[in-house]
Amino acid sequence: MERPFPTVAVVGLGTMGAGIAVAIAKSGRRVLGIEADADAAVRALARIEEATAHAVQRERLTAEERTALLALITVGDRLDAAAAADLVIEEVPEQLELKREIFAELDRICPPETVLATGTTALSVTRIAAATARPERVLGLHFFNPVHTMKLVEVVRTVLTSPQAAEDAAAFARDLGKEPVAAGDRAGFIVNGLLFAYLNQAAAMFESRYATREDIDAAMRLGCGLPMGPLALLDLIGIDTARTVLEAMYEQSKDRLHAPAPILGQLAAAGLLGRKSGRGFYSYEAPGSSRVVAEASAAAGTRVAGRTVASIGVCGSGTMATGIVEVFAKSGLPVLLAARSQEKADLAKAQLAKSLERSVSRGRLSAEARDAALALVTPTGSYADLAGVDLVVEAVAEDLEVKRELFATLDKIVKPGAVLATTTSSLPVISCATATSRPQDVIGMHFFNPAPAMKLVEVVSTVLTAPDVTATVLELCAKVKKHAVECGDRAGFIVNALLFPYLNDAVRMLQEHYATVDDIDTAMKLGCGYPMGPFELLDVVGLDVSLTIEQVLHQEFREPGLAAAPLLEHLVAAGCLGRKTGRGFRDHARR
Ligand SMILES: NC(=O)c1ccc[n+]([C@@H]2O[C@H](COP(=O)([O-])OP(=O)(O)OC[C@H]3O[C@@H](n4cnc5c(N)ncnc54)[C@H](O)[C@@H]3O)[C@@H](O)[C@H]2O)c1
Repeated sequence: MERPFPTVAVVGLGTMGAGIAVAIAKSGRRVLGIEADADAAVRALARIEEATAHAVQRERLTAEERTALLALITVGDRLDAAAAADLVIEEVPEQLELKREIFAELDRICPPETVLATGTTALSVTRIAAATARPERVLGLHFFNPVHTMKLVEVVRTVLTSPQAAEDAAAFARDLGKEPVAAGDRAGFIVNGLLFAYLNQAAAMFESRYATREDIDAAMRLGCGLPMGPLALLDLIGIDTARTVLEAMYEQSKDRLHAPAPILGQLAAAGLLGRKSGRGFYSYEAPGSSRVVAEASAAAGTRVAGRTVASIGVCGSGTMATGIVEVFAKSGLPVLLAARSQEKADLAKAQLAKSLERSVSRGRLSAEARDAALALVTPTGSYADLAGVDLVVEAVAEDLEVKRELFATLDKIVKPGAVLATTTSSLPVISCATATSRPQDVIGMHFFNPAPAMKLVEVVSTVLTAPDVTATVLELCAKVKKHAVECGDRAGFIVNALLFPYLNDAVRMLQEHYATVDDIDTAMKLGCGYPMGPFELLDVVGLDVSLTIEQVLHQEFREPGLAAAPLLEHLVAAGCLGRKTGRGFRDHARR
């Protein structure tokens, strides 16, 4: 098949346009760069020369390749030059009227078969296409910044775009070494559509003082493996840009979760636009710097001292309980592993031994350390043995009645002054606390699975938790080398409250036939550097578990946008629960 679009015009050679021009020339195509005026054209060419020289220095390009590449690029200031192009990519600033004017002119200048693409992030491709008499040959080509490293390109079709034009554009993107995904014309397309709603919730969470900016960011990095926390990312993107994208999303969706959080407006109005202005959610060394500096007001307050923890009890015999026992034992703390029967407790200890053995065989643990850890763990089938421990972590079934009954039992057995912690991910910690006569000693310690590997623990204090109990758990987390983040006792804590609405949005995109499972997963991995796409993650977590968390979130906040997507409910009803049943959003059995 012939290579699509041998000659490409790029209108606007700023951050995106210059990068795209280079990527196209690299593929051996002729590039006609067009800037607003002669001065801008000179500056644009200088930028391209500089960027490619930098690539040679970094050994991403040889000097010969650079010479050949530059010979393929011409830069001028006359839009007429686009007449010779097979494809025109517009990359001028994000203003609808400017883009519409350019498209109307291009429509007059270019032969009827020329395909016209816009690089818009948040404007309507349909409205831009309507400025021409060839809407079937107009589409969006959304590249990501920086173009030379980001592989993703969203190919955006309006209702009028011809399938052929979209296919050719996708083939063109592939030929540039990019990974195209297909999206419809909706504000934010796939990546920003899913990303910005989540960033907005993080901003709102910070604004309500539910958790600190550092804790929100650390929770998402360590709990979900994201490359950056949401507030640091908002600073990088620019608070003003984020607001513009969210405004555009809200305009179309009328979903309150897309209405920019008031804090974004306040920061923008104050000129605190993020890294580029030197301050946003964080303060930076200088405008444009990525180095965060501490503010005078952020000086740490005096904390109360925690209670002494020399011995620990863990209730339960499942995955989480066994993992948590491993964490404590490896840190040298004696642990009583208490299960409903001696047999279950012994089995759990055997599981623990297996896990430690795996660490030894992978070279991550010495045989001595394994033996020392195992020697610290005593399995018991009797909760009465917990009488003398300083702290109990409960990791039994996620069922409020079961947990309350256990807390009532612990209340009768465990010595006064001991800390009682629950690992619940979706139940109110306060309901466990009120099952005891000592709610001030009860707290949430939300570990992540697998507990030995995941660094994060959400430390959840209720309205009744005593300050020294919170301090005890924070000190314990530091001792066992976990990163603790503090939050209040509301549904989803930090991580799940930010993660699951995003996963639900992805399911909604799929349910509305906006994009496919594969394209959405690819887009989030390549566009945001996420370790897994939303559907991969849902299949791993389990669709039933996910549905429960979404229902709890919806029940807590009553936000219509948080209602679980019907498609998720249907899959759960059909028994498609993800990897564990062999089928969820993907069919795992056949692989
Ligand atoms: N920067 C990003 O991270 C990013 C990522 C994806 C998409 N986008 C989108 O890409 C587009 C371009 O953004 P950018 O960041 O490269 O902007 P930019 O401001 O860096 O560059 C815009 C360029 O267009 C030129 N220009 C202005 N009017 C023109 C005209 N009439 N004719 C020709 N050239 C003209 C300007 O001189 C400038 O060089 C926008 O629609 C933006 O939303 C940006």
